[in-house]
Amino acid sequence: MEALQFSSYGGGVAGLKHVRVPIPEPKKDEVQIKVEATSLNPFDWKIQAGTLRPFLPSKFPYTPCTDVAGEVTKVGSSNSKGFKPGDKVVAMISPANGGGLAEYAAVKANLTVIRPDTVSAADGASLATTAMTAYQALKTVGGLTTRPIQNILITAASGGVGIMAVQLAKLLAPSSHVTVTCGARNFEFMRSLGADEVLDYKSPEGASLKSPSGKKYDLVVDAASGISWSTFASNMSAKSKVVYLTPNGSSFLTVVLRKITFSSKQAAILFTAQNDKDLEFLVRLVEEGKLKVKIDSKYPLTKAEDAWAKCMDGHATGKIIVEP
Ligand SMILES: NC(=O)c1ccc[n+]([C@@H]2O[C@H](COP(=O)([O-])OP(=O)(O)OC[C@H]3O[C@@H](n4cnc5c(N)ncnc54)[C@H](OP(=O)(O)O)[C@@H]3O)[C@@H](O)[C@H]2O)c1
Repeated sequence: MEALQFSSYGGGVAGLKHVRVPIPEPKKDEVQIKVEATSLNPFDWKIQAGTLRPFLPSKFPYTPCTDVAGEVTKVGSSNSKGFKPGDKVVAMISPANGGGLAEYAAVKANLTVIRPDTVSAADGASLATTAMTAYQALKTVGGLTTRPIQNILITAASGGVGIMAVQLAKLLAPSSHVTVTCGARNFEFMRSLGADEVLDYKSPEGASLKSPSGKKYDLVVDAASGISWSTFASNMSAKSKVVYLTPNGSSFLTVVLRKITFSSKQAAILFTAQNDKDLEFLVRLVEEGKLKVKIDSKYPLTKAEDAWAKCMDGHATGKIIVEP
């Protein structure tokens, strides 16, 4: 089969190579799928850039990408969830092993869920990292359904995670007021998803994060990077929390300092946990038409380098899809 791989850290698009490799055989706890769509995430090129070295990848050569949808072609001997050849599924692959940017993939059965007919492969493949991150940032870490939250700020809301976060915030807390940052070209799109206020991140008002109506945020989902704690803090309510998705040294320090000083303005870092229950729930929301997927662009596997470049560029509105 055809796959894309890189064999060392760095190199960007030039480091990605088209290779012919054997179709992966499913282990006992896996199913083999014919990949119909793979979605790219910034995490994929960050692994190549060496951001998580020496932990990821576990070895070279490495076939990147973790979020796939496709058709089951073989099942492993334990087949605990009763999948059968022909089933349409959505699956998450462990980033340690990768394997999504290929014609076939072997995926853990416990990280695979059935994809209803009405959910396209591209939409299904778009959910695992983005929607699960948004869901866990809002609910698990942000406490959206368990503490009083009126005003929410979502930064970089036009990206894969942000688009899901805006919609899930409104689904989980319909009376909440959602302010977002994005580029001016996406204002109308953000409003169509339910955002109440939009800020252009390239304007002085956007950079200051000030809500046009003077709201103080109870919860911030920070899908951008490099925003200082003081910028957040001056716009936060007395009991509030920032959830960082792209931590750096300064955000780690902020989290610790807020914790040990028992500050009422808290900060946390989310590392998304892959699990099939959340994925099943999110696929169902798409099936029911409650959650919309926005596809930025699609590429065939032969042009996967262009998809990689687009993802590295960081200016997609929604998901970048590769269709083998
Ligand atoms: N912690 C975790 O487990 C976890 C999980 C998933 C993602 N992440 C991280 O979360 C971040 C967002 O991921 P993503 O998939 O949503 O990225 P993405 O799809 O690549 O985001 C691109 C979008 O962000 C907008 N943007 C870029 N910089 C911005 C800024 N400073 N303010 C406002 N908007 C900005 C761009 O708008 P323009 O085109 O108008 O510039 C573009 O629409 C990434 O750093 C990713 O690695 C972390």
